[in-house]
Amino acid sequence: MTEKLTVEFRRSGVTGTWDGSHDNILELAESLDLVLPYSCRSGICTTCQCRKIEGDIEYGDDGVYQPDAPDEILICCSVPKTALVLDI
Ligand code: FES
Repeated sequence: MTEKLTVEFRRSGVTGTWDGSHDNILELAESLDLVLPYSCRSGICTTCQCRKIEGDIEYGDDGVYQPDAPDEILICCSVPKTALVLDI
């Protein structure tokens, strides 16, 4: 069973709960009716890149591009490891 984790989209003023029923953070955001930029949805284009204010994530696929800055993440191909606060 997946641990439930809070994911706060701070600038949007929306908070959701990660319960493992979505494939990535972008899908969770969309389930909350947030309209966020994306293109490839596979970790290549960086359109979905955003700043992580608090918390940890992990990428589902080892081959995915990962931004150099540790607080920049690609939400189309990552999942929360802890409660998150994102600057979107
Ligand atoms: S949408 Fe292209 S990297 Fe996330």
